[in-house]
Amino acid sequence: MFSKIFIVGLGLIGGSLAADIRSHGIARQIIGYDNNKDNLETAEKLGLIDKPSTLKEGACCELIILSVPVSQIPPVYEKISPYLGRKSIVIDTGSVKGYVIKQITNIKNSERFVPCHPIAGTENNGPAAAKRGLFKGKNVIITSDRGNESVQKIAKFWRLVGANVVFMNANKHDEIFATVSHLPHFVAYSLVDSVLVDGNLPEYIGGGLADYTRIAASSPAMWSDIFIYNKQNLLKAVGKYESSLKRLKNCIIAGNGVTRFLSAVQKAKLASKKNAQIIIAVDGPSGVGKSSIAQHIANELNFFYIDSGALYRALAVIDRFDESKLEFIRQDGKWLLCYNGSNIEKKIRTEKAAAAASKIAREIKTREKVNNIIYSMVGENSAVVEGRDAGTAIFPNADLKLFLDAPLVLRAERRMKDDKAATAQQINARDRQDKSRAISPLRAASDAIYLDTSASYDTVVRMVDSVIRNVLKISIS
Ligand code: C5P
Repeated sequence: MFSKIFIVGLGLIGGSLAADIRSHGIARQIIGYDNNKDNLETAEKLGLIDKPSTLKEGACCELIILSVPVSQIPPVYEKISPYLGRKSIVIDTGSVKGYVIKQITNIKNSERFVPCHPIAGTENNGPAAAKRGLFKGKNVIITSDRGNESVQKIAKFWRLVGANVVFMNANKHDEIFATVSHLPHFVAYSLVDSVLVDGNLPEYIGGGLADYTRIAASSPAMWSDIFIYNKQNLLKAVGKYESSLKRLKNCIIAGNGVTRFLSAVQKAKLASKKNAQIIIAVDGPSGVGKSSIAQHIANELNFFYIDSGALYRALAVIDRFDESKLEFIRQDGKWLLCYNGSNIEKKIRTEKAAAAASKIAREIKTREKVNNIIYSMVGENSAVVEGRDAGTAIFPNADLKLFLDAPLVLRAERRMKDDKAATAQQINARDRQDKSRAISPLRAASDAIYLDTSASYDTVVRMVDSVIRNVLKISIS
């Protein structure tokens, strides 16, 4: 995927990424830099990096990973920015995003930066603590617009090391992580401090305290930066914590309400994850305008976009098909299917490719393969998925299902604009094949909203926007 990757900061995260990059064959060469000589030597000895590099030399790599404490990210960016290569993308792995993004915006070549936060780690630090597979099944938050080409490439990079990619606004990120990550570390450090005897841990440490000492053993350099650079959000969370302390303390003083307090906390459940992800399925026959409508929704809501038909087409026309090379990339508001980094829209948008796709789409193995590609592309993100069976088979529990339809003559006219070889007869034959096949035939899901797209594009868009506002209760346009 990359010829050369440069990792700055070879601690637990940087070192673990190096191990994963190597084991998944993501780069031909990994070079590294760490201002701590011991770390650099250990990383080289452990085979995490191929060789050490200076910041200036490493800056021309296609991917540069800044895995240093938050306060160091902007100064390191400043040092490498004049020497970035034409294709260089820079990512970080820091737990605070707002501060870092603000600082980097004022640095040359700031547009090369894709802010990332892998929610993974252990209390150990240094390259010796590096762990292959550390990111497997973990969330990685990317706090930039998902449509950008570099962002898509970085999302793919994280998926290759087994992570789920989640897109989030930077301020929201800092607010959430102040509560779920920064506060617990603040509490652990202060709680352990409160039990120290002459600067040492007390005797008879039980399991409860041991949990806190484990967290408080995390890297001081890393956590002091997080506390300082997410100060406002952290202080807000600490304020809430102080009020909980006070309430529990008062219950104990009054000898009343202690069990109620503890039971309420014991019974608390994780808020349903599903609420965070929204899936919109758009189905219908050929040439009905699914792509324009689905792309409009994806762009308006900043959702990921998947054209399942394009995947069937790609599978039908590409020799020695390798699904890891496929990705949808948004360019100027249009989503393009790319293979191995090249746009393959021209190759797949012919009636011949469509007929070949229709043929292989009858096989259950092919359908399973395409569905699995879709699930891994979507991950835990919100997405608009279009096709024939998006709402019936791919995402039968989609939050909103639209079924678009229009008379054949009109659809043939529309299709012929893109593909001169398409005729009403061909489109009709393909529809018939799609409707009559045994597995996942084209049909409207029983809970789909049926929309006639004979009207003008603007009218249809107005109808769709109003459906989204009313059914999903989310604002569009
Ligand atoms: O949507 P598009 O015309 O690109 O799809 C090409 C063909 O792929 C369809 O005619 C259909 O046979 C097949 N397909 C499918 N299930 C989907 C999407 C497309 O069987 N979800």
